[in-house]
Amino acid sequence: MRILAIETSCDETAAAVVEDGRRILSSVVSTQAALHAPYGGVVPELAARHHLENICPVISKAMSDAGLSYAELDGVAVTRGPGLIGSLLVGVQVAKGIAYVHAKPLVPVHHIAGHIEAPFLAHGDIPLPAVALVVSGGHTSLFEVPARGEYRLRGRTRDDAAGEAFDKVAKLLGLGYPGGPVIDRLSQGANDRAVEFTVARIKNGGSDFSFSGIKTAVLYHVRREGIPAVADPSRPPEEVRDLVASFQRAVVTALVRRLKQAAEELRPRSLLLTGGVAANSVLRRESAKAAAGLGLPLFVPPIPLSTDNAAMIGAAGFVNFHKGLRAGGDLNPEPHLDLG
Ligand code: KG4
Ligand code: ZN
Repeated sequence: MRILAIETSCDETAAAVVEDGRRILSSVVSTQAALHAPYGGVVPELAARHHLENICPVISKAMSDAGLSYAELDGVAVTRGPGLIGSLLVGVQVAKGIAYVHAKPLVPVHHIAGHIEAPFLAHGDIPLPAVALVVSGGHTSLFEVPARGEYRLRGRTRDDAAGEAFDKVAKLLGLGYPGGPVIDRLSQGANDRAVEFTVARIKNGGSDFSFSGIKTAVLYHVRREGIPAVADPSRPPEEVRDLVASFQRAVVTALVRRLKQAAEELRPRSLLLTGGVAANSVLRRESAKAAAGLGLPLFVPPIPLSTDNAAMIGAAGFVNFHKGLRAGGDLNPEPHLDLG
């Protein structure tokens, strides 16, 4: 079964063809990072316009890379939410058009379900139940995955997502956008104990997260110490490298602590780490240590499947197709869509 998948929820225009929810026949991602970099974050209006320009070439490339004609497809899957309304709208409208013209079933997909399916796409069979930590620029959530395609929300951020905190701290220091990869790179070899940051624990919040406080703590530290914005982001002073390494350590510690807590509570058979922030080298290392301590296997997709892509939407689309989920010409994007 071959599914054309389309993803335009944020600032990546992506299309992929996935066979049986397992094999990636093609995966094309056109990132707008450089476009939004001068603003230090995604500008929704610009993102929507660029999706509109890029979507047709990206889909054509995915189809030609897969070596398929539209007639050979068995369905079209599309991210219907959550995300930026203008961005989602582009993917949803184009998916509806292709499904209608070629008389193929249209399958709606939740973006986070896509992230959770990415480790399955990368690693094949995974022992279930699993606990999944989804960490991206828009989301930081913990899910229990009792069976394939079933997701139970166990904790979420009350304010900023972890990736958003990385991006905002990088912006504040003049390090560029997106902030996560820059902070990850600059932290290597720096002193991550130079500044003592903590991530707030939420009273009676169970497995919920909050990352807005640490972002403010970094801002106050910068003001107190009179740290100027970095002139050359490729060679920031040691003080800035130590600062971002300390910030990163605090965020990773908080994420891994919740993952461990959830694992101890729910007693899963495996752990999943996914989403753009799962690309973080320290988070990967510390999650692996935690998993080893718990005696559980940890599944992390390779970086191109961790950050936004359409192949994961194809995998989730396959799962949804078998659940019988279908959409018609009245499908609308849902910027705020819950999962589990
Ligand atoms: O999953 P994703 O591509 O898009 C959303 O669904 O949000 O995640 C993007 C986020 C950005 O905030 C980016 O800074 C972060 O992932 N990110 C990282 C790293 N690579 C990407 N954060 C920390 N360390 C990284 N190496
Ligand atoms: Zn995402």
